Amino acid sequence: MKLIVIGAGYVGLVTGVCLASKGHKVTIVERSKERLDLLKRDVSPIYEPGLEELMKRFHNNIAFVSNLSDGYSGQNIFFLCVGTPQAPDGSADLQDVYDSVESILKYCKEESLLVIKSTVPVGTNNSIQEMVAQRRKKIHVVSNPEFLQQGKAVLNTLYPSRLVIGAEDEYSIGVMKELYKDFNCPTVCVNRASAEMIKYASNNYLALKISYINEVANLCDKTGADVMDVVKGMSFDKRIGSDFLQPGIGFGGSCFPKDTKALLHVAKEHGMEFKTIQSLIEINEDQKYKLIEKAEKKLGNLCDKRIAVLGLTFKAGTDDVRESPAIAIVKRLIECGAEVNAWDKMAIEVCKKKLNHEKITYCNSIEECLKDADACFITTEWTDIVNVDAEVFLNYMKTPFVFDGKNCLNREYLKTHGIIYEGIGCR
Ligand code: UDX
Repeated sequence: MKLIVIGAGYVGLVTGVCLASKGHKVTIVERSKERLDLLKRDVSPIYEPGLEELMKRFHNNIAFVSNLSDGYSGQNIFFLCVGTPQAPDGSADLQDVYDSVESILKYCKEESLLVIKSTVPVGTNNSIQEMVAQRRKKIHVVSNPEFLQQGKAVLNTLYPSRLVIGAEDEYSIGVMKELYKDFNCPTVCVNRASAEMIKYASNNYLALKISYINEVANLCDKTGADVMDVVKGMSFDKRIGSDFLQPGIGFGGSCFPKDTKALLHVAKEHGMEFKTIQSLIEINEDQKYKLIEKAEKKLGNLCDKRIAVLGLTFKAGTDDVRESPAIAIVKRLIECGAEVNAWDKMAIEVCKKKLNHEKITYCNSIEECLKDADACFITTEWTDIVNVDAEVFLNYMKTPFVFDGKNCLNREYLKTHGIIYEGIGCR
């Protein structure tokens, strides 16, 4: 089948390339010249394991263009994958979505499918369908949310947990099933509003799980319980499971922070106070600074103390620092007057540009980062950080205080070697 994907961000690029790998002919529209230059050379502008390999292997099935007029040659499936950034009031900014719909309306002539993959507030797909109807076009709007995780995006797309099709007519469901026929997963066919809600409800539920376990961890800190043992004990209950119960410095990234605020906003617009979501957002905001509170308790005022911050991305396996708790921590440390040494596996260059301050020293190695530090904060669970030898902490740091914001280090090993260790909800 022939299709057009609008937007070559995480969702659009990965979806387009994965559909091309199943034999479809995919044209991807990307307006940024910088990204387009890379894409045309089969270079991925984002770090995503396996993506460039697929781009090269299925090169003949993929074309990259800068605008719809260059890419449109009668295709009748459009995938809309543009960003929906957070507006100042917490709502999703839909400008790019509506602009893209306008340009599709301008070029599209045949009976077509407009598949909305962008995460949009509940009701948006129906209003797009109304826009289409006003122009008397035979375009069927379908909501088809994605559930991919950064760092595993290709795997998640090729082997999805489920396929959600939000459509209101048999024709659309038929085309979508044909398009995804080589993806072996359960298919959920629902109306458009339900599909939009599935996406928000899923992400918000996962965010809720994280904030819940973070509050449990905070209580463990006060009571002497060990949150990692608590999680272990909980996880054997199949109704609970073990996923998304890893305590730490809170969630970050391009989805959870934005989607939680967007759902809260949708609720407000409908006159409803969504109390669990309001609380989880507040919990997550406070959680970012737990390591600083812990360090202050042990070291006193952090002014002029040197803190080694290991990890800047919002999780391991990505070069993305959007809404990263580590960045919030570095900023707060600077406000406290601390000197910060920072290291990351993938994000040093981007951080140098984004977060430049005389009190931050970006380091080329973990050893350099730890040198003369009064304390070390673990803020991303990179394997290189998890595997740091106790001797390295002892040899390079001024005092071996290690505050583990991801509960990812081997604390028994570190403690027996003289490290003063504290995690979130465990020590
Ligand atoms: C998330 C959703 O998982 C995905 O389905 C959706 O499509 C996009 O948003 P992503 O943002 O890539 O994916 O990252 P994810 O692995 O879900 O982690 C999000 C944040 O939560 C990270 O900061 C991570 O460190 C944190 N997290 C995750 C925890 O603190 N504890 C956990 O148990 C799991």
